Amino acid sequence: MTNLLARRGPRPELAPPAAGPRPVIELAGVSKVYPNGKAALRDVDLALGEGEFVFLVGPSGAGKSTLLRLLIRDELPTSGQVLIDGQDVARVSGRGVPRLRRRIGVVFQDFKLLPNRTVRENVAFALEVTGTPRRLIGPAVERALSVVGLNAQARQLPSTLSGGEQQRTAIARALVHEPRLIMADEPTGNLDPLISWEIIQLLLRINELGVTVLMATHNADVVTALRRRVVALEEGRIVRDEVGGYHRED
Ligand SMILES: Nc1ncnc2c1ncn2[C@@H]1O[C@H](COP(=O)(O)OP(=O)(O)OP(=O)(O)O)[C@@H](O)[C@H]1O
Ligand SMILES: [Mg+2]
Repeated sequence: MTNLLARRGPRPELAPPAAGPRPVIELAGVSKVYPNGKAALRDVDLALGEGEFVFLVGPSGAGKSTLLRLLIRDELPTSGQVLIDGQDVARVSGRGVPRLRRRIGVVFQDFKLLPNRTVRENVAFALEVTGTPRRLIGPAVERALSVVGLNAQARQLPSTLSGGEQQRTAIARALVHEPRLIMADEPTGNLDPLISWEIIQLLLRINELGVTVLMATHNADVVTALRRRVVALEEGRIVRDEVGGYHRED
């Protein structure tokens, strides 16, 4: 497991400046206008440091998913820059895109598992599509499954799992590339409160292992209880960025 989440620190000649470590994610003056004219993000500045756990909140339509999509280059900003580890995602092209996406583990509300593949195969698939040598896949999958506590369910199909287990499978799949960052878009949106807490606890544990976590959520109870950094969007703008609770906005 140490291996799974082994930190790849900066090379000595790239040591961070005295002002602090380089952000894992940085958005500088980012705006996103969709082709239909909808301005989903407006002049957003945001930096996430290594190892942070950050909630992204705001009413429906505020731009949370858009912001997350910009990070994996699912969308490009209309203006401004999105940097991952200091690299401008708009300048990444061709083979660089899958490489960028491997640095970010993505978790969605609806799990997005392949229904005809087992838990193990779902996690392995993430490595197979990127051409990982076969001999490395088995051990990496077992490590990811053990982080989420699913080794015993490895041979089951998603349809035979509880919702929480399905989400843990998705988290294992997100982890298997040993990402620097996990971004989760409403990961507890389809889960009951108790199971939601289990998923949050798991994300917190992964964060403690050194992975930066950015989680969009409407779950006010979780945000209020954890007292982590909360970035609030409203109509595409950051209206709050502080450690603390959830101001009910929707
Ligand atoms: N592909 C698209 N084309 C046009 N408009 C879009 C597109 N995707 C999102 N939007 C619009 O951009 C705005 C922000 O959407 P986004 O999905 O980022 O909000 P959100 O904060 O994630 O909302 P929710 O909490 O409901 O998930 C919304 O007004 C939405 O209708
Ligand atoms: Mg959304």
